[in-house]
Order: sequence, then C-alpha cells, then structure tokens
Amino acid sequence: MLDRVNTARTTPHTRLSVPVEVRDLRPQDLPACSWSGSPTHVRHVADELDRAAAGEVDYLAVCTPAGVPVAIGGVDYAPRPDAGTLWQLAVLPALQSCGLGTLLIGAAEDRIAARGLHRAVLAVEDDNPRARALYERLGYRAFGRELDTWDEEGPDGEIRRHEAMCTLLGKDL
Ligand SMILES: CC(C)(COP(=O)(O)OP(=O)(O)OC[C@H]1O[C@@H](n2cnc3c(N)ncnc32)[C@H](O)[C@@H]1OP(=O)(O)O)[C@@H](O)C(=O)NCCC(=O)NCCS
Repeated sequence: MLDRVNTARTTPHTRLSVPVEVRDLRPQDLPACSWSGSPTHVRHVADELDRAAAGEVDYLAVCTPAGVPVAIGGVDYAPRPDAGTLWQLAVLPALQSCGLGTLLIGAAEDRIAARGLHRAVLAVEDDNPRARALYERLGYRAFGRELDTWDEEGPDGEIRRHEAMCTLLGKDL
C-alpha cells in the first residue's frame, strides 16, 4: 500500500507498507523457498516439516498477502530441555534489513513461551557479525561456543561437508 499515491510522476524514495502474516511453514510453500538455500537445504527444511507435524519443532514463515514466504526459520525443542533453539533463520535477500528478521524472531520467541519455556538460544557463525549484532540488539547474550557441521550441495552437484565455529547466544524470555 502506498502511503502517497503517485500518478504520472514517481519519486526516487516512495514508502510502501505491506501487511505480512506469520504462520507455520507448509510443505506446499517449499517451491517458493528456493531463495533460502541450495536444493539440499530445502530438502532438509522438508524433513524438518515432518518433525513439525510431530510437534518436535516449530517452523515459521512470514508471508506476503499473496501467501508467499519471504522469511523462514525454525525453533527446535530437542537440543535443550529448558529452551527453544532458533535455527535456519533466513530472509529473502531482496527484503533483508526491513524488519522481517526481527518479526520472525519475535514470533519464534512467542512459540517458545507458549510451550512453557523461558529461554531462547541460537548459534551464530563467527563470520556473520551483522546477524550477531541484530541478535544482541534483541537481547541475546553470548554464553558459549560450538562447532557446527553441515552438508551442502555445490554447483557441480557434489555434496561437501562444511564446518564453522559459532557463538552460542541466549535470551531469557
Ligand atoms: C540475519 C537475518 C535473518 C536478519 O533478518 P533481517 O530481516 O535482515 O533483519 P532486520 O531487518 O530485522 O534487522 C536488520 C539487521 O539484521 C542484520 N542483517 C541485515 N542484513 C543482513 C545480512 N544480509 N546478513 C546478516 N545480517 C544482516 C543487521 O544487524 C541488520 O542491521 P543493520 O541493517 O543495521 O546492519 C537476514 O539478514 C538473513 O537472512 N541473512 C542471511 C542469512 C543469515 O545470516 N542467517 C542467520 C544465520 S544465524
């Protein structure tokens, strides 16, 4: 929705406000989530939706009025008995730095609280200082470190193992 209606002329900076909905990610959304990572990653997300159906995780999507996911991410309840672990947070690159990540994290924290838990935890890679700055701005504090490993499909179709040192951040809800 345009705050100011422009007819013949356009201004270089016109502000648009678009209503978005936060809901559970569904299997039928996955073809529209290829921006979130490689085909291997999207297959992993599909596996996580099976776990969501079993109640082991929450997997959320921020969607446009057309129902298209522009930010996705999960909360895993398995790693820690006393906290929800946020992971696989991703915002459509063209819409990063517009507040969608903040909205998604707030919704994830609400899901954790709704399960009667009072702590949110996440891991951020050491080479992602902008994401870490966002989490710290939202109240997350460092409490440890861990090595993260995952498999990723390269452009040649080869599966390669990756690893990265991460800082663990936590927030009491
Ligand atoms: C990190 C991320 C989820 C944040 O969502 P977002 O919608 O961009 O965040 P918001 O608009 O609510 O907040 C903006 C802040 O997010 C961080 N951020 C923004 N763009 C980013 C990017 N491309 N990569 C990493 N962090 C980013 C910055 O701290 C930014 O503040 P700044 O604009 O003052 O630098 C999103 O940028 C993203 O998907 N990045 C790429 C994937 C990633 O790094 N995932 C996190 C893994 S732990």
